[in-house]
Amino acid sequence: MPFTTLLFDLADGIARVTVNRPDKLNALNEIVIGELDGVIERIRTDTAIQGVLLTGAGTKAFVAGADIGEIGGQGPSDGRARALAGQRMMRRLEQCGKPVVAAVNGFALGGGCELAMACHIRVASESARFGQPEVKLGIGPGYGGTVRLPRLVGRGRALELLLTGAMIDAQEAWRIGLVNRIVPPDQLLPESERLLRSILENGPLAVRACLELVDAGLDMSLDDALRLEAAYFGLLSATADMREGTQAFLDKRKAAFKGS
Ligand code: COA
Repeated sequence: MPFTTLLFDLADGIARVTVNRPDKLNALNEIVIGELDGVIERIRTDTAIQGVLLTGAGTKAFVAGADIGEIGGQGPSDGRARALAGQRMMRRLEQCGKPVVAAVNGFALGGGCELAMACHIRVASESARFGQPEVKLGIGPGYGGTVRLPRLVGRGRALELLLTGAMIDAQEAWRIGLVNRIVPPDQLLPESERLLRSILENGPLAVRACLELVDAGLDMSLDDALRLEAAYFGLLSATADMREGTQAFLDKRKAAFKGS
């Protein structure tokens, strides 16, 4: 699968996807969005891929936003279409069924912050910077910033970031719950991979169930979400992995999950 704006590598169950436009701080133009869409389809369907690491090329940026050159020339109908295409891609990433860790190596602004928020877990380098600066350009977020940010950090903190367009450092992003952990720059990829591997050691169907339940449950009433959780609990009880996991505990050995 040849890409012009992405680097893709698959080793030992982990797909490493790198947005690769370092001269434009990895800004998301239409080609990047289309190529990310293609790679997400592969992630969804390729059984050799168990988890995903997503990062940006170079030392300066994860993704510095949607491509401002493209946005500057858009009208109402292509603006809406651009937002829908980016939203669709990020929603497919969020629902790909496999854990996705964002390794945020620098600026994660606008669409970059939105892309990181569509990943399941965010690990930030000490040098990472976050923000939704769209209002400074006279436009609003288009890839889910007004939707995922308040769900992650709460309404007040989200509105402060969205309305001021201010940038925050990794420490502040961690303090408000936007990132899961902060590591020194040279530890970003190894630590992100260690975290992903600790997830992949668990029962894959159980991991997938957690992803689906949190994704669906957040938009349900408490009672409906609890009912859905109970249904998955029952379903997982029909798996060989559940028998293996519980037996391995009783035998005091490491479980050998098969994803069935
Ligand atoms: N879209 C298109 N190009 C972008 C970009 C974006 N979102 N962000 C950075 N670039 C380009 C710059 O135009 C510049 O290209 P050039 O060398 O051809 O002139 C290159 O990337 C380097 O960026 P530069 O601004 O020179 O780096 P800096 O260190 O001075 O500033 C930022 C870094 C991130 C603070 C600054 O680039 C910035 O504010 N970017 C836009 C962030 C944004 O508003 N994102 C939301 C978009 S909706």
